[in-house]
Amino acid sequence: MNELLRRYADALESLDAQGLLRHLPVPPTCAGPLLDFSGNDYMGLAKRPELIEAATLAGQRYGAGATGSRLLSGNTPAHTAFEARIADDKGTEAALVFSSGYQTNAACIAALLDKTALGAEPLVFADKLNHASMHLGCALARAKQQRYRHLDLAHLKVLLEKNTLSRQPKFILSESVFGMDGDRADVAALQDLALRHGALLYIDEAHATGVFGPRGYGLCEAVDLAPSTVVMGTMSKALGVGGGYVACSRLVRDYLINKAGGFIFSTAPSPLLVGAGHRAWELVPDLGAERAALLARAESLRLGLRRLRLDPGASTTHIVPVILGTPERTLTAKNALAAQGIVVSAVRPPTVPQGGSRLRIGLCATHTNQDVDRLLNALAALGSL
Ligand SMILES: Cc1ncc(COP(=O)(O)O)c(C=O)c1O
Repeated sequence: MNELLRRYADALESLDAQGLLRHLPVPPTCAGPLLDFSGNDYMGLAKRPELIEAATLAGQRYGAGATGSRLLSGNTPAHTAFEARIADDKGTEAALVFSSGYQTNAACIAALLDKTALGAEPLVFADKLNHASMHLGCALARAKQQRYRHLDLAHLKVLLEKNTLSRQPKFILSESVFGMDGDRADVAALQDLALRHGALLYIDEAHATGVFGPRGYGLCEAVDLAPSTVVMGTMSKALGVGGGYVACSRLVRDYLINKAGGFIFSTAPSPLLVGAGHRAWELVPDLGAERAALLARAESLRLGLRRLRLDPGASTTHIVPVILGTPERTLTAKNALAAQGIVVSAVRPPTVPQGGSRLRIGLCATHTNQDVDRLLNALAALGSL
């Protein structure tokens, strides 16, 4: 092995020594039926025939691939129709779709924080537990983040007030439902704070889209969004497809089309993705009963966990962690469940903070109360780990 490759091997060995080496999972082999809590297909849409048919139809009309960037050959009526629908349902003037949620955050945040356009260094206030793709957007813009304690708006207020006199442009970045903790930000209060301090608010609704909101379009749906609020979301989780979007003012959309490298220099999302995503989006308002059942099931899972003296953290959503602390305990529990045909994710640093290793249970509308009981019984049988 040459010296350069040896460095990669050393990095992997170091991860392994800390119990942090990642592997692509393979479905466990067991005699009984598999029970999967590791996915994000929260509304059980990924395999719905309507989505496959919509993808096929869009593919037949516009091709399997978009053939180029939106600014060159890749702009189809499928893209613009979907964007118009997203904007309508989010209550914004406009929307813009991307090939993934990760790309959406990286591209949009980097462009919004661009110091050349802003004429000054931005002041960025970010929830401590924001997703890696949001950090990437900040890093691409070389913007330093002031990270407030998770969901602690009093802390955010203190940081904002310290900078009241600053003329630097201000930004607040947060998820609405946090993907690893399953807790929620108060989006209306965040927007109030942002407006009071003249800040742009950027909210990531990846885990809320399809699950929360009066018609299921996310926690921001219930908020009268200001033109200075930008909402992103994904089609990859509850919509069961893939891709990302931002819902925003027409001005911000025009700016992103001109300044977001991840939009300009990347092939447009495939018509297959856009067709299926649009159809999933249309199905969302009719899933109210499924949403209510999903959230009730999550509540009974949390009750069951607490009865077993297991810690579901501050979850109030369909994402329920079982916080076990160390990578070793987490992997032991994950493997023991897998041996019984129950698939959960083991989440370890750096995805979660040191000491916060956990099983992540992603509940879906397709799970039943019996499935939750099976999980709880299996966890009970693990005893003290
Ligand atoms: C909060 C959050 N934002 C963005 C993303 C990225 O979305 P995608 O998987 O569509 O790239 C994720 C994915 O895990 C996420 O959890």
